[in-house]
Amino acid sequence: MWKIETPLKNINGKLFFANVNTAKLANEFGTPLFVTDSERIISNYNNLHSAFSSHYDKFKINYAVKANNNLSVLKLFNSLGSGADCSCPEEISLAKKMGFSSKDILYTGNYNSEDQLSFALKQKIIINVDSSSILPRLLRIGTPNFISLRINPGIGGGSHSGLVFGGKNTKFGMSKNDAIESYNIAKKAGVKKFGIHMMTGSSILDASYFKKATNKLIDIAVEIVEECKISLDFINIGGGFGIPYRPPEKSLDIKKVGSDIGKIFNGKKSSKILNNPWLFVEPGRYLVADSTILLTSVHSIKSGPIKYIGVDAGMNTLLRPALYDAYHHVLNASRLNSRPKKPVNICGQICENTDILAKNRKIGTVKEGDLLAILNVGAYGFSMSSHYNTRPRAAEVMINKKKYKIIRQRETINDLIKGQKVVTWFK
Ligand code: LLP
Repeated sequence: MWKIETPLKNINGKLFFANVNTAKLANEFGTPLFVTDSERIISNYNNLHSAFSSHYDKFKINYAVKANNNLSVLKLFNSLGSGADCSCPEEISLAKKMGFSSKDILYTGNYNSEDQLSFALKQKIIINVDSSSILPRLLRIGTPNFISLRINPGIGGGSHSGLVFGGKNTKFGMSKNDAIESYNIAKKAGVKKFGIHMMTGSSILDASYFKKATNKLIDIAVEIVEECKISLDFINIGGGFGIPYRPPEKSLDIKKVGSDIGKIFNGKKSSKILNNPWLFVEPGRYLVADSTILLTSVHSIKSGPIKYIGVDAGMNTLLRPALYDAYHHVLNASRLNSRPKKPVNICGQICENTDILAKNRKIGTVKEGDLLAILNVGAYGFSMSSHYNTRPRAAEVMINKKKYKIIRQRETINDLIKGQKVVTWFK
């Protein structure tokens, strides 16, 4: 069995997660159910932190809220000392609600509306501007003290074409020349502090990619500092750190990433020209993906040329397989010791042929009534789930050293119709 490691355990063929029997959780809270181990998030945070801070001490993690916006998860990151990377006013509001202070919130939107910009200005957070056309609009509303610009350094990576954000033909970031012009405009307008940012792709397992992309950004930062005569408070190299989803993928060598980037930041360009800026990262996946499993019950099995195992989670609960053909490992939590048999497809109940959570998997004997566990769903799992086919969204539970608590109730039909007004002109 792949990836049976903390927090997963096989006890007499039954799956335990963070020392709690998954069958017990399913009985108590129903399925589909997202279960998050807070200890795993803490150890991911500490691993990442020490990988970088042991080489460069002006280092800060800003958790990317979009990966998992559960309030308890945000509270945990706040207690760890993390900052928050937010993509919209709503995420900023959640972060504030969970105790993040303005100086610890970064707002990286794209194609922002004036309302969004004006909200961000009022919050006095760090605004990361995605394009040179946004800057004059922002400055017409007000002059922030601190501004960062998102650069497209001409390089992109990612485990799927949809996860590549840098390089040609992507909708994000600005060129070096646009950035030079924008920093000059911002300086003239009275902006006092500056940062620089890139986010070039997601789910990257190749350590050397981060070195390559960071070298590019540093070269651009050096030119900008010399040309615009500004100083950069921070250099934000984004997120993108991958985790192994599909056997036999290996973990990203985060120590190597930290030491490579530490070397770049301790190098001449960074220390002499850039004057020892803060090094920011803003990961989502790396911190939360493997902290969470999705428990789902088998309701119906259909035999045929390929056997379909029908479960109560679907593309509405976990969109990644349908959207990116993403692989999530599946275990039969009820029969971990059963031998791999013929491959099966695992599907949801949505009326779409793309509603397949796992294709061609050898997971051993599966019977109706079994409980399956879909692994590594803590990032972009619940946060991308939907109501499609009028499905209430799943419940979420957090486990903390054997103690557990429901952190999001399962939705009901009332949640689905909340806010709707029925017209009165039909009889
Ligand atoms: N910063 C910015 C500005 C971002 O747009 C993102 C993710 C992150 C940080 C965090 O990236 P991470 O460390 O998680 O790679 N829905 C896709 C992932 C899309 C990521 C979008 N932006 C998925 O399910 O794989």
